[in-house]
Amino acid sequence: MIVNPFTYGNPISDARRFVGRERQVEQIFSRLRNVEFESSSLVGERRIGKTSLLNYISDAQVRRNHRLPPEEFIFVYADLALLDAATTPTRLWQYLLRQISTHLSDADGELLGAALADHNALDNFTLAEVFDRLDAQKRHVVLLLDEFENVTRNKNFSPDFFYSLRSLAIHHRLALITSSRRELIELTHSNEIRSSPFFNIFANINVRLLNRDDARALIENALSDTTVRFTPTEIEDVLQIAGTHPFFLQTACHFLFETYLEDRHAAQRRALWTRRFEQEAAPHLTEYWRHCDEAEKTVLAALALVGASESPVPKTQLRDFLLRSERRIAQLDKHALVVARDDSYAPFNGLFTDWILEMIREGPFARDLQTALQGNRSNAQAVIRATGLSPRELEVLRLVATGLSDAQVAAKLVLSPRTVSTHLQSIYNKLGVNSRAGATRFAVDNGLV
Ligand SMILES: Nc1ncnc2c1ncn2[C@@H]1O[C@H](COP(=O)(O)OP(=O)(O)O)[C@@H](O)[C@H]1O
Ligand SMILES: [Mg+2]
Repeated sequence: MIVNPFTYGNPISDARRFVGRERQVEQIFSRLRNVEFESSSLVGERRIGKTSLLNYISDAQVRRNHRLPPEEFIFVYADLALLDAATTPTRLWQYLLRQISTHLSDADGELLGAALADHNALDNFTLAEVFDRLDAQKRHVVLLLDEFENVTRNKNFSPDFFYSLRSLAIHHRLALITSSRRELIELTHSNEIRSSPFFNIFANINVRLLNRDDARALIENALSDTTVRFTPTEIEDVLQIAGTHPFFLQTACHFLFETYLEDRHAAQRRALWTRRFEQEAAPHLTEYWRHCDEAEKTVLAALALVGASESPVPKTQLRDFLLRSERRIAQLDKHALVVARDDSYAPFNGLFTDWILEMIREGPFARDLQTALQGNRSNAQAVIRATGLSPRELEVLRLVATGLSDAQVAAKLVLSPRTVSTHLQSIYNKLGVNSRAGATRFAVDNGLV
């Protein structure tokens, strides 16, 4: 009985089946190896492979290869999707300490026993003492906190919780590796938490699409233990329709492999796997779409239409809009919803592109699209009226808001840097702000970038 080697439901748990992500893995481990024992925050949409990555770095051999011997470094994984409205910080700490204690010898484990025995005693001082003892024994703790937004969004977790967690991480041999759908700072339940210094301890690491070589390696590795070989055309089809997104890739290959198990003719295989793949994948595309804000949806629609044979909106208008949307595209790229192609971008796989086009054809979305595409323009007119900015100043403001320096803005507009800084001063005055950050915030708030 041949077993299908492609799986798409559960995260990858066997390190040998994990492909790619060398740079991110090295970045996480090097932050743990440095003297400050630094934390990282993995950011990526659902199903991009965050849990698989956490599993991979927990693997004893992988850790040894990266010079973090399991004897010294305790890795504890927590699936925070288990949190609910009743979960308190004390309850979470109990759980984590219990997990840590399973890595300790009986005698060492006892030190945690006392902390765990009495709920009320589990305060910040007790926690500090626990980590003091672990430090004294040269044990380093890495907490892998999967779907950490469940904590930052839970009202039971007040700013105090984050302050003390930060303090433990700074003063002890404790590091955190969190995962979340978007940057944690965007997923908090209050402004107070958003402005907490807690988030400063992390470096954000984006979990993105695989590169094409890794995607091919994934297919090849999986097939190597079987007698099945996909044809070169099939592999190209898979890479076009599913792209290099690991979840969609595994799903597509899973259904293609099924057609081999069913002994289908080459001619039947494509129709079968693509239909089954579509059925399985569509709900996830709907979810990604729902998670996007209006501006991101417009950019995705424009990217899908600009490469399509027909478009309800003139292509020149689409291209013009996309040129003004650099910042949003970069954001979508970070969230693995678009893929770089030559010198442009496209939705992250062929299925998503078709899905978007279908939705534009069928739904009310098309009606609003034209307005949305012109959104930037009309915003600009409104801003000019309201602030008295000149068109030139507006141009400078937009470029500054995309993060360009004075010199870069000057080069783009063929002006001298001095003229740019004069423009900037006038922009600050008219907007009533006194910094680039202030001007940028104004531009973002008013939909200029
Ligand atoms: N590095 C990888 N190598 C091979 N397959 C992967 C990899 N990362 C993710 N996958 C595939 O994608 C699916 C979703 O990954 P998962 O780790 O559960 O994502 P997330 O935690 O971000 O939702 C897995 O079931 C697996 O099929
Ligand atoms: Mg996960």
